[in-house]
Amino acid sequence: MREWQHATMEIRNATDDDAAAACVVMRRSIAELCVADHQNDAAMLARWLGNKTPENFLAWIARPSNCVLVAVEGDVILAVGCVTDTGEINLNYVSPDARFRGISRAMLKALEERARERGNARCRLTSTGTARRFYRAAGYIEDAPAPFKFGIPDYPMSRILDVDRS
Ligand SMILES: CC(C)(COP(=O)(O)OP(=O)(O)OC[C@H]1O[C@@H](n2cnc3c(N)ncnc32)[C@H](O)[C@@H]1OP(=O)(O)O)[C@@H](O)C(=O)NCCC(=O)NCCS
Repeated sequence: MREWQHATMEIRNATDDDAAAACVVMRRSIAELCVADHQNDAAMLARWLGNKTPENFLAWIARPSNCVLVAVEGDVILAVGCVTDTGEINLNYVSPDARFRGISRAMLKALEERARERGNARCRLTSTGTARRFYRAAGYIEDAPAPFKFGIPDYPMSRILDVDRS
């Protein structure tokens, strides 16, 4: 990783005050970066964005089995991630303004570290088509044929955490 690309970035636990800005980041990440997945289909997009609301974000933070993280530069949120106590990474969204600066890779490492601290030997996630190459490069392997979520193909993947391929 090229440290200069995010020398001023830090990853911390999300707080209630992050809810509105974090949802803007997630929604923009999906709408602007994941076009290959939703193909600007309004109904698909609406289903995917539908649960990315401040109210839901507050509930995700409050759930003890979740670890919700934000990558920030000053008071600007660059990315949002979440991992559960069982090692399921269920959010990993970078702002379009911060793409390809190593932010998602740093977020993924932070989420994996939290999963490891909670006793997991493996992380699982369901990748978008957009991020599939990114996760493969990070050592994730596809576990099963792609199912459909929000009407869009998704890619179940996992990585054994003991094997650090970075
Ligand atoms: C693809 C994506 C996840 C990469 O994250 P990022 O923060 O922009 O990029 P990073 O700098 O952390 O990682 C770069 C790596 O992404 C991969 N990558 C590079 N170009 C890519 C491209 N055009 N498309 C997909 N992946 C690419 C490579 O593995 C690259 O590593 P390299 O620089 O060593 O070649 C991000 O840009 C994105 O599109 N996110 C959309 C939201 C999403 O799909 N999230 C996943 C939910 S499961």
